[in-house]
Amino acid sequence: MSIHEPPEIRDQPELFGPDFVRDPYPTYAWLREHSPVHRFTLPQGMPAWLVTRYDDVRAWLNDPRLAKGLERFLPPEALPSPAIRDVLTNNMLQSDPPGHTRLRRLAAKAFTAHRVQALRPRIEEIADELLDEMGPEGETDLIDTLGLLPISMIYELLGVPKRDWETFRRWSVLGSDEQSTGSAEFEAATEALKAYTRELIADKRVTPGEDLLSDLIVVRDEGDGLSDDELTAMAFLLLLGGQETTISLIAAAVYHLIGHPDQLALLRAEPERLPAAIEEVLRFDGPAMNASMRFATEDIEVRGVPIPAGGVVFLGLGSAGHDPERVPDGERFDIRRTGVRHLAFGHGIHTCIGSALARLEGEVAIGRLLDRYAELELAVAPDELKWRPGMHFRGPAELPIRYRSEPR
Ligand code: HEM
Repeated sequence: MSIHEPPEIRDQPELFGPDFVRDPYPTYAWLREHSPVHRFTLPQGMPAWLVTRYDDVRAWLNDPRLAKGLERFLPPEALPSPAIRDVLTNNMLQSDPPGHTRLRRLAAKAFTAHRVQALRPRIEEIADELLDEMGPEGETDLIDTLGLLPISMIYELLGVPKRDWETFRRWSVLGSDEQSTGSAEFEAATEALKAYTRELIADKRVTPGEDLLSDLIVVRDEGDGLSDDELTAMAFLLLLGGQETTISLIAAAVYHLIGHPDQLALLRAEPERLPAAIEEVLRFDGPAMNASMRFATEDIEVRGVPIPAGGVVFLGLGSAGHDPERVPDGERFDIRRTGVRHLAFGHGIHTCIGSALARLEGEVAIGRLLDRYAELELAVAPDELKWRPGMHFRGPAELPIRYRSEPR
């Protein structure tokens, strides 16, 4: 059960209201049962379909009849301006094969498991530095303190000089806030960052560093390499995909462990359960609520519901992890689960390329936090906590906590 009382659901669920943003899972439970392929209207006025059952979500994540292609399917007024469209759409997440296959293959050559594992000591070091700054006791918004871990990691990976982190941070906050997309502020920040990233790439061509961006610049596959436009778009995708999602994972883990003291005590007593605890957070309240938008390439039927060619489809990753058909007692948060089924990192050709890094960061952040502080509690009532609005990302927008290294 979630900490909150489920809102009452009548015949039409409210997909964008405050109750849903705070706790979408009662609505998902209703949808899975009564309307598993649910037609609704997007804030932009277009019809869309939300798929909520695990088996359907998994199957359609890997079905070529649902394609990417924002520019192909969305009306121009629903797209970012042409000046920044290329960096937001010219990437593997928004491409179909064969373009996707090529971009992913080149990125995978640089983004290896070996590189990720080699990052562990550095991740631990950064987590320790951030915890040092928090001191032995106090009150903080964890998003602005320990939450900086994934940000620092992605900037280091890309080889962004420290003096420029602030600019990157501002853009990525805007870029993942679905409410600000298309605003003048969003456009200006994105344009500035695009120019900056192109300069960074030019610098690294001349003076390569030990970073992922430098590797991506030289990576070749049968003579084929990434163009400057593709490199810029790839850097944007990694920034967007790698920061706010992993911050949400860390924040959601802390929030749910505090909300379930028995589970927190179990994890403290048996720290070897940490990987399973992270997996349970991903299932129970993962950072990607829906996969990125997909479009029907032809008239299709999903569980008997017709979706016309060009129809916008949302695949409910968060809902899938609660489907009682696949996850017994899925509304319960339980770190003792084994063989957890979830689709928090997607499935099929677009499966998250950064999942190993995200899991590692989550484990290090939570492990170090619990080692450091014997007492952790929320500094606000659970009902007062603000959550990120929108259809794609999920997670606390802030996480005020109180902490003490010595038990009282
Ligand atoms: C807990 C943290 C994370 C979650 C929940 C997450 C979730 C996802 C999901 C669901 C997808 C597939 C979306 C779809 O099919 O529409 C995806 C793709 C992707 N993610 Fe992540 N992600 C996380 C962390 C990261 C990190 C740390 C990075 C990189 C540093 C990253 C980079 C990417 C990229 C590049 C793709 C596109 C892959 C493709 O299209 O082939 N993600 N992620």
